[in-house]
Amino acid sequence: MTDRDLIRNIRKRIMDSKKLVVLTGAGISAESGVPTFRGEGGLWRSYRATDLATPQAFSKNPVLVWEFYLWRRRLISKCKPNPAHLALAGFESYKPVLVITQNIDGLHQKAGSRNVLEIHGSIWRVRCVKCGRLRDDDRLEMDLPPVCSLCGGLERPDVVWFGESLDEGILKGALDALMSAEVLLIVGTSGVVEPAASFGRFAASHGAYVVEVNLERTPQSPYYACTILGRAGEVLPELLTFEEISQK
Ligand SMILES: NC(=O)c1ccc[n+]([C@@H]2O[C@H](COP(=O)([O-])OP(=O)(O)OC[C@H]3O[C@@H](n4cnc5c(N)ncnc54)[C@H](O)[C@@H]3O)[C@@H](O)[C@H]2O)c1
Ligand SMILES: [Zn+2]
Repeated sequence: MTDRDLIRNIRKRIMDSKKLVVLTGAGISAESGVPTFRGEGGLWRSYRATDLATPQAFSKNPVLVWEFYLWRRRLISKCKPNPAHLALAGFESYKPVLVITQNIDGLHQKAGSRNVLEIHGSIWRVRCVKCGRLRDDDRLEMDLPPVCSLCGGLERPDVVWFGESLDEGILKGALDALMSAEVLLIVGTSGVVEPAASFGRFAASHGAYVVEVNLERTPQSPYYACTILGRAGEVLPELLTFEEISQK
């Protein structure tokens, strides 16, 4: 099958399905300027991002971890959704779309996606480690570390760090959607961070046609129906823009 035939086949499958389920990772936001953890830009000062995004790093030095997250907030606040985010949001005019994202940057919502499951939380929310209160917080500067006005406990970014488990309700929502998905698009995720790394295989084992979009093949590629090698910002508009329909 040529690439063109493959794209045509995927577009048909997407249009024939009732709903589009999408799993996104850091790669979908890379073209917006948000660095991925494993590519270039996965370093802050001399620290590896993957060493700072841990509960151990936060217990040892909450101020350092907060400085890292404020730096990320400032960076993300300057980033705009790219054509990949916009194609997913725009596709809601044709079909219901559920975006399951590992990203904490909020760019899917900024692009207009209305149905987003943030399985790793949001950088724009904080959680008290003592009483669990959640609150929205978009400050780019603050006295560190922030403390809870209710109980005086330490506040942390409401994100899921390496080694932590996902919120049960959100995980259940994701698994239910994956189980019933006819087509699953997996975009810009390295396929090494569990449990999301197994979501594609899980959906495939329940009958989904799984399409991966990435710059390179991943450890999960062998389990999927196909992998399209390319930039999310170019491939997604090609897969999801249906001008012929809007002209009818
Ligand atoms: N934007 C964000 O919110 C953000 C950024 C970095 C890390 N994280 C967090 O870190 C964890 C890292 O896991 P991950 O798998 O999501 O990211 P990752 O950094 O491990 O991998 C990114 C993947 O995207 C691919 N990629 C890079 N640029 C791309 C492009 N233009 N088009 C298509 N694919 C591209 C890479 O080949 C790689 O496979 C996640 O759990 C996430 O929560 C979030
Ligand atoms: Zn509290």
